[in-house]
Order: sequence, then structure tokens, then C-alpha cells
Amino acid sequence: MRKLVFAIAAIFPVAAFAEGMISPLLKGSPSDISGWEKKIEKQLKEKPQFPKESEYPQPFHAPNGYEYPVKDICVACHSYAAHTKDETFAPFYNAHSTFMSCTVCHYKEAGLTYAWVEITKDGKMKVIKNTEDMYGVRYVKADGRVALSGLDSDAKITPLVNGKPVDIPLKGNEGLLHDAAAVSKIYNNLAKHPYKCADCHRGKNPLNLVGLGFSQERINEIENNEIVKGLLEEGKIYFPNFIWKR
Ligand code: HEC
Ligand code: HEC
Ligand code: HEC
Repeated sequence: MRKLVFAIAAIFPVAAFAEGMISPLLKGSPSDISGWEKKIEKQLKEKPQFPKESEYPQPFHAPNGYEYPVKDICVACHSYAAHTKDETFAPFYNAHSTFMSCTVCHYKEAGLTYAWVEITKDGKMKVIKNTEDMYGVRYVKADGRVALSGLDSDAKITPLVNGKPVDIPLKGNEGLLHDAAAVSKIYNNLAKHPYKCADCHRGKNPLNLVGLGFSQERINEIENNEIVKGLLEEGKIYFPNFIWKR
């Protein structure tokens, strides 16, 4: 497998992965790409926008007090408002994309680990090893609004294969945005059934939350989340106590 990956890297040097290794998202060969060029250009032109503030459920009702940086190719093509189809859950998927990489839910292979990864200005992926004093994201109150925001870093939870982040930084890979064969390969490598709310918020989580620096108390909150419980069991959202208590 490794050999195959390197052979592909040699043929498509454009798609260089961090430290010279190709992203597992680009492995394999493209399927029929006729039609993709058009779809891609349409996608790039008509990227969805964040829903209006009033359409956001609590606690994600004020998402735009903060500029979300576009650093990886998924976001470059899809924006942070990638989900539009499901009215109830789409805003949550979009909100999660601000603190976890799209690939956390959309790329599911055996042997993945997860870390906070920051994409630097020059397109390098920096794995943040010491997460002890880095909470990563938090609900912040500003001007009477509550927003989910990275604090001093826009690092996101990202899957790793053999210690290397699977994501593809935008910087240095801009060519992929117009490369139908590459997008077709990405598409083939994505999970047919991405992780959903219950996979992470009802009992044991696929993410190594301890390794990501979450406290046991926080892990209990995440794995017994009352908003998710309300959404899944009763189709409604409980009033988010956690916002007003902190
Ligand atoms: C160059 C643009 C481009 C990039 C980069 C890109 N996508 Fe897409 N993606 C598309 C297009 C175009 C479609 C098809 C939309 C359609 O069918 O109308 C699509 C479809 C999807 C779908 C929907 C699949 C389905 O069955 O409905 C998912 C999920 C997705 N992309 C996730 C991702 C993720 C995750 C990444 C990053 C690893 C990514 N995309 C990168 C253009 C892109
Ligand atoms: C917390 C998990 C999660 C994250 C993070 C996530 N997705 Fe999704 N995404 C899903 C799930 C689950 C579905 C399928 C929804 C369904 O079947 O109703 C989905 C569906 C989609 C679709 C199909 C269109 C739609 O409206 O549902 C696209 C496109 C997509 N995701 C792209 C992305 C991109 C791009 C990112 C990162 C910016 C991302 N996703 C981040 C879980 C996630
Ligand atoms: C891949 C795992 C994953 C999936 C799938 C996922 N979440 Fe989350 N979610 C998390 C993690 C991890 C956090 C904690 C982030 C933090 O505290 O920094 C979180 C935080 C939350 C919070 C904030 C909780 C709090 O106490 O502050 C809510 C609400 C939430 N998720 C709802 C949902 C809903 C609804 C869905 C489905 C649409 C969903 N999540 C899907 C992993 C996931």
C-alpha cells in the first residue's frame, strides 16, 4: 500500500502532502470524472453561506462575530456552511466544522488518531502535542452574544494516519480546486456514512478525547450531552444551561 501511495505521489507532485507525503485523501484512482469539472466550478461559485443568525438554533445562534479562516481545501470549496440539506442538524455540523476538520466526520478508516492541528500561513500542518493548557474552543460572550470561537489558535481536531494529519492545506495546493481527478479521488475516499451526533455524544466517542486534552468532566459532558439527547429523542433542543452558568 505504501508503495502505491508513493508511486501516486511521484505522478502527481502537485498534491504534495505535509513533509512530502501524499494525503490519504488522494490515494486511489479517480472514477469517471466527466461532469465533475462543471460541478466543481458551480460549487466554487455558489458556495453556501452561513445561515442567517435567526436561523441558528441555540447555542450556535451567533456564529458570525468571528471570521473563520479558510485554510484547507474542503472549506475552500464548500465553505463553513457546507451543510444545508437537513434543517435540524445542518447548523450543528457547520458549527462543529469551526473546531474540527471536515475529515473528522467524513474520513473514517481503521487506525486513525486525532490531534489538534494548526495549518500555518505557509501551508504546513502543525500538530499541537501539548494540549494540557489548550482548551481549543470555548463559548465566549461578546457584546451580549455567545459565540463558539477558537481562542488564541485556530487549530482544529484532525485525524492523523501514522502521526500525519490527513488534511490538505489550501496554501500550495490551490491547483486541486480545479482538478476534477483529485476531487473525484477525495470523494471516493470519504466515508459513505459520516459520524453523526449519536456517534460522539451518546456514550463512547471515537475521538481520543483524553489525548486531545479534554478533562474527564468535560468528556462526561460531551458523552451525555443534553442538547443532543433532546434533539435525538424528542426532536427539540433543551435550553442550554451551560452557556449561562459559565
Ligand atoms: C474543488 C472543490 C471541492 C473540494 C476541494 C472538495 N469538494 Fe466536496 N464536493 C465538491 C462537489 C462539486 C461535490 C458534488 C456536489 C453535487 O453533487 O452537487 C462535492 C460533494 C461532497 C460531499 C457530498 C457527498 C454526497 O454524497 O452528497 C461531501 C460529504 C463532501 N463533498 C465533502 C468534502 C470534504 C470533506 C472535502 C475535503 C476533504 C471536500 N469535499 C473537498 C467539491 C469539492
Ligand atoms: C460533526 C460531523 C461533521 C463535520 C465536522 C462535517 N460534516 Fe459534513 N456531514 C456530516 C453528516 C453526518 C452528513 C450527512 C447528513 C445527512 O445524511 O443528513 C454530512 C453531509 C455533508 C454534505 C452533504 C450536503 C448536506 O447538506 O448535507 C456535504 C457537502 C458535507 N457534509 C461537507 C462537509 C464539509 C466540507 C465539512 C467541513 C467544512 C463537513 N462536512 C464537516 C457530518 C459532518
Ligand atoms: C466526531 C464527533 C462529533 C460529532 C459527530 C458531533 N459532535 Fe458535537 N461535539 C464534539 C466534541 C468533541 C465537542 C466538544 C468541543 C469542545 O468542547 O471543545 C462537541 C460539542 C458539542 C456541543 C456543545 C456542548 C457543550 O457542552 O458545550 C453541542 C451542543 C454538540 N456538540 C451537539 C452536536 C450535535 C447536535 C451533533 C450532530 C448534528 C454533533 N454534536 C455531532 C464531537 C462531535
